[in-house]
Amino acid sequence: MVAEILTVLAPQPGEIAVDGTLGYGGHAQEILARILPGGKLLGLDADPVELPKTESRLRALGFSAEIFAAHRTNFAGLPQVLAAQQIPGADMILADLGVSSMQIDDPTRGFSVKLDGPLDMRMNPQRGQPASSLLQKIDPEALVKLLVANADEPNAAHLAPALAGKAFTSTLHLASTIRTTLPRLSKDDSEGTVRRVFQALRIAVNDEFSALDTFLRLIPEHLKPGGRVAILTFHSGEDRRVKKAFASGQQAGAYARISDEVIRPTPAEQHSNPRSASAKLRWAIRVK
Ligand SMILES: C[S@@+](CC[C@H](N)C(=O)[O-])C[C@H]1O[C@@H](n2cnc3c(N)ncnc32)[C@H](O)[C@@H]1O
Repeated sequence: MVAEILTVLAPQPGEIAVDGTLGYGGHAQEILARILPGGKLLGLDADPVELPKTESRLRALGFSAEIFAAHRTNFAGLPQVLAAQQIPGADMILADLGVSSMQIDDPTRGFSVKLDGPLDMRMNPQRGQPASSLLQKIDPEALVKLLVANADEPNAAHLAPALAGKAFTSTLHLASTIRTTLPRLSKDDSEGTVRRVFQALRIAVNDEFSALDTFLRLIPEHLKPGGRVAILTFHSGEDRRVKKAFASGQQAGAYARISDEVIRPTPAEQHSNPRSASAKLRWAIRVK
């Protein structure tokens, strides 16, 4: 949804941009091209594996340290990044939530439901516990709650006793156990459940909802007057949080305008990039 994001953020030469989820740097690259000359983009990402690759890629495209800075941090650390850069506020803030294609396509990271690898799922493999440890330690009751809260999983109660407290060696071991625990589901429903269980575990392992809540709370005070924020979400748990935070920001007088409706990818984009199908974009504009 590059075009939609650029319309919402409307980057202009000389402006300061924050990309809270740098990933491959696809959005950042487009924003950078529009804020030059005179602008600067701060790219944040929690992932120490992919971030250096993206930094090198953007440097090779000619974006020097003066106009682009990469920070290996959770986006909940936004105030520290702005302080380190001696930047009081941003003209635009972007977040494109979840995991990147590079992370999913690297079997060693454990995000993929199709490629075998260790059941890890940490965006920063140097911190926290892998999904395998979480599953081994959790009891069935707590796992039901986690699957419902993080993925609205309808089969949570049936699945939890087969997964909680068990030692899963790999991603495909977990995926096949989910399928065999629910033999009566159609193939589509079964694959939907596999995806939702992986999503729920990923959200828990990376503490994604509390990072998002913190980020949403911090955004208004770190936007310049008239600054724009755009957040791209991929499931209802994320979208609910963004919708609520923007509405309460507007009520509190921090935002002058917020999106009434979510913006969705065009049918052509959904067709060419199936991972975009669940994307929802919301925006808000800081009061002047
Ligand atoms: C969907 S990708 C972003 C793709 C990016 N917009 C692009 O154009 O390439 C999400 C990225 O955000 C990172 N991420 C997710 N949650 C984060 C958080 N709380 N703090 C920092 N980075 C985060 C992930 O590591 C991943 O690289």
